[in-house]
This record gives sequence, C-alpha cells and structure tokens, in this order.
Amino acid sequence: MRIRKAVIPAAGFGTRFLPATKAQPKEMLTVIDKPLIQYSVEEAVSSGIENICVIISRGKSAIENHFDKNPELESFLEIKGKTDFLREVRRISDLAEFCYIRQKQALGLGHAILMAEKFIGDEPFAVLLPDDIFDCRIPAVQQAISIYEEYGSSVVILKRINKEETSKYGVIDPEKVKPGVFRLKDMIEKPGPERAFSDLGIIGRYVFNPDIFDAIKKTKPDHRGEIQITDAIKILLEKEPVYGYLFKGRRYDAGDKAGYIKATIELALKRPEFKKIIQDIKIE
Ligand code: G1P
Repeated sequence: MRIRKAVIPAAGFGTRFLPATKAQPKEMLTVIDKPLIQYSVEEAVSSGIENICVIISRGKSAIENHFDKNPELESFLEIKGKTDFLREVRRISDLAEFCYIRQKQALGLGHAILMAEKFIGDEPFAVLLPDDIFDCRIPAVQQAISIYEEYGSSVVILKRINKEETSKYGVIDPEKVKPGVFRLKDMIEKPGPERAFSDLGIIGRYVFNPDIFDAIKKTKPDHRGEIQITDAIKILLEKEPVYGYLFKGRRYDAGDKAGYIKATIELALKRPEFKKIIQDIKIE
C-alpha cells in the first residue's frame, strides 16, 4: 500500500535548547531561512506524502500558523510587488493537507504517535522527527519507504554511532540481511555503552504498519513515566519483522545546540550567496 500519510511529533518542551525554546516552539527555530519543521514537511512531501498530522502541545500555535494561509500578508506582498516572497508564502500553505492534534501531557514519543491513530486509520504511515534534518540525494524518509515497499514490514532508519552516543539513541541488535539492511532482533532505548547491542542507532525516520498502535498500547512507561516508541517497536517484533536501513546521506541533530550550529554552517556553505561570507570569517 502506498504511503500517503505522515506523523510529525512536535509536542516536546525542547529542553535541550533552552532558553531559546522558553516561549517559542523548538520546531520553529530557523536553520538559514526555514523553520526546522519545514525541512521535515518538505522531505515528506517530496517522498509522496499528502497528509501530515502534526502532534502539538500548548504554545505551539506558531506551527499551525506557519503552514496556514496568511491573506493579510499575501495582499501586502501583492501590493508591494514582492512576487518571489508571495510565491514562497503561498507555496508553504499549499505543501500538504495538515491536521493538528494536541498531546495534552508529555507522556513520551510513543504516546505522541498514538495520538494520530484515528487520523492514520488502517494504513502504513511514516513518522518524521523534526529535530533531524537531512541532506540526502534521495530524501531520508523516501529511503525508508523504499525498504518498506521491498519487505512489507515496518522500517527504522539507522546510523553508525560512537560509544558516547549510545546514551542519546535507541540502539538495535541487528541481523544482517544485505548491505545496509538489517532485521531487528532486539532494541533498547538510550542504553549507554555497557548495555548497547551494537553501534547502530535509530534516527528520526520510521515507516510503520498500523499494528504499531496496538504495540504502543501494550507498552509500559519507562522509568521517567514516558512511553517510548523504541519499547513499542520491541513489542511489535513479537508479531512481525521490523527492518533497519543505514540511510545514505548526511543528517544533523538540529534539536541540539552543537548539531544546530553544524547544520546551519554546512547547509549555508552549500548556498552560493552565503559560502564566501562564511569562508571569509576570521576570528582575531
Ligand atoms: C528519539 C527516540 C530514539 C531515537 C532518537 C533519534 O529520542 O526515542 O530512539 O534514537 O529520537 O533522534 P529523542 O531524541 O527524542 O530523545
């Protein structure tokens, strides 16, 4: 079945980015000239997604406004003859069909995804975590969709991580299927170096069969009271296979201050209008 729908969880507090995120959604922080979440939305749309459900929470209305029409701004730009901006502003509100659901309590990523159950219905869907931005020849979620189409099972995107990073990611126990493709035998959320099964970490792109919703409902909260998607996938594994794919391209953790700076500099270096300015920077 074709993947038409995606869920973008955007309900978190963005604590790693305080104080910038005190009154502003983390997902609206700008990398060069676009808010973080727009990178995920554009990636989804260029991978064939038509309907996007964003899971939000209190104080996140800027996200809804960003993807909505703004008639006042549009007529202002029209009167002023600023046609390039006008086109861009209109393009953003026409990207996809959006739906917003509130997660009333911060009960974890798994719980946030479960909020979209009715919106998704009985079809496979993608999940994009907006902290992760990618620079890939084939969009990262499209890479996951291709593996889903090949195996007909849920897919997580992977990257090689070092020892310190095992405390930041879900880590899988892999069985190699072919170069870059693994069948998951087990998985654990943020294990740390002692308990990590491997150096394969899960990053923020997933394709799920709708069976994931039952698995989430069976998942017990972790020690912080949060329902983790990694624990839910582990339950899904009892019922059906799940695959991991080592994606091809670059990925930035833009929800983290250092990753955000790296993303901004590297992506700006790829833009001719900014390249020279950055290369000319000299610190006395
Ligand atoms: C989430 C997931 C984790 C995954 C990570 C990827 O963690 O729970 O399994 O490895 O995203 O970025 P978070 O970064 O939201 O704490």
